[in-house]
Amino acid sequence: MRIKLDLEDYGIYEGISETIVTTNRGWSMNAAPMGIIRRSDKLFVRLFKGSTTYDNVLSEKVLVANTTWDAITFVNSTFSDLDDSDFESLNINGRTIVPLKDAQCWVAFECINTKLTSDALVSELIPLGTHVNKCLIRAPNRGFFAVIEACIHATRYQLTGENKYLKLIKVYGDIVDKCGGKNEKEAMKLLYGYL
Ligand SMILES: Cc1cc2nc3c(=O)[nH]c(=O)nc-3n(C[C@H](O)[C@H](O)[C@H](O)COP(=O)(O)O)c2cc1C
Repeated sequence: MRIKLDLEDYGIYEGISETIVTTNRGWSMNAAPMGIIRRSDKLFVRLFKGSTTYDNVLSEKVLVANTTWDAITFVNSTFSDLDDSDFESLNINGRTIVPLKDAQCWVAFECINTKLTSDALVSELIPLGTHVNKCLIRAPNRGFFAVIEACIHATRYQLTGENKYLKLIKVYGDIVDKCGGKNEKEAMKLLYGYL
């Protein structure tokens, strides 16, 4: 059963919202940062080949977009696997979904009209269910966004080995030092450890 929602109530605004997408196949659960693309009231994901998220979405046609301000979760879910105990397992219209226990909120989506290209898939997202755990009022913090940018450059560095990405990571690391809190600084330390 599809539902109608005010996407802003769940933190999803026009443009690209950086969420932690959780998916599963059988007992195996996965989390990774992925952008939810919103154009007016249409939502999409673009998933590049080679990730577990890509494989799970292709197989199960469902995903959960989790909203979190936890920089450590962004780093750990980019470069390693979260612990099974970080997920909950729920049933929604006969489908299993695996949101993050600590997400501020989540929206579960059915993935439809999936188009495959040589390097990616694009799916349209149809809301199936939602949950708000805690309403977080937080002013923008440059340290948090710098961790996100550093994660993106770090994935590019791992793919290409190009030095320019290391330089960019260092630039964002300096912003984390200046503007971040304990969580962002710890996240950045973890990120350097994954390089
Ligand atoms: C903030 C952020 C946003 C990302 N958005 C996407 C995306 O929209 N699509 C994608 O394919 N990869 C995206 N990535 C890269 C994946 O998160 C990364 O490849 C990850 O290791 C995949 O993990 P998995 O194999 O567990 O699915 C993003 C990474 C970051 C840090």
